[in-house]
Amino acid sequence: MTARIIDGKAIAQELRDSVARGVEELVEAGGPRPGLATVLVGEDPASHTYVRMKRKASAEVGIESFHHELPADASQEEVEGLVKKLNDDPKVHGILVQLPLPAGLDEEAVLRAISIDKDVDGFHPVNIGRLAQKGREPQFVPCTPAGCMILLEKAGAQIEGANAVVVGRSNIVGMPAALLLVKANATTTICHSRTQDLPGVCREADILIAAIGRPEMIKGDWIKPGAYVIDVGVNRVEDPDSKKGYKLVGDVAFDEAKEVAEAITPVPGGVGPMTIAGLLNNTLTAAKRSVD
Ligand code: GUN
Repeated sequence: MTARIIDGKAIAQELRDSVARGVEELVEAGGPRPGLATVLVGEDPASHTYVRMKRKASAEVGIESFHHELPADASQEEVEGLVKKLNDDPKVHGILVQLPLPAGLDEEAVLRAISIDKDVDGFHPVNIGRLAQKGREPQFVPCTPAGCMILLEKAGAQIEGANAVVVGRSNIVGMPAALLLVKANATTTICHSRTQDLPGVCREADILIAAIGRPEMIKGDWIKPGAYVIDVGVNRVEDPDSKKGYKLVGDVAFDEAKEVAEAITPVPGGVGPMTIAGLLNNTLTAAKRSVD
């Protein structure tokens, strides 16, 4: 049997359309136009591309964006000073500091400087702490892990009581994804570079989230028949047949895994589009709450 392909592009578009409608309703009701501040420190080309995509997507749903760039040698005080100014700006409802920050900056201190009410990335230590605690709710949930959960729900996965395995424990994806699965009552295992018998652990997974950044590391025979597979990896590999000379692959060997799984996300077109849609949704939520 071949797996159903979870169409992240289409599901993200639905969310973007619903955010666009929400923005117009808010503005028509006399509320503020949602505003997203983007902060980019340094010259990392991938970060520049991501921020450009986030700003373009904001404009497409009627969210105003306020872009700030600082040089790679900006001081801790300069970065935190900018964040504090944005905290005080009533036109800014969400603040996104693109990660990673250049070496030498204290990332946690920068994230802690963001008002938790404007923390649309959900990376503030208080928001992450609440995500990790029973009976507490963060103001915002990190966008990529939230996107993974939406894809699982839309694909019809039974999350409660499932054995979920997350491969990767990054602050941005793996760890918050695992915390969300626990909140949704899955029995959750987090795997990492020191995990013994990774294939064996993966074979127990009814739900498998791969977020390790290693091209096609998870093989088809690591997948439990009938599993739901969410592939967060975006890896460039050489491809002489492509004009660009490379192609994008996930962390899962897709062609093999799709023969075993019940449902699987492709790369590209799976999780990727959900990240930006989630950010737009969080920014709309922040703007709505600012007038509550
Ligand atoms: N770097 C990689 N992913 C993300 C993200 O979702 N948000 C921010 N701020 N930085 C990132």
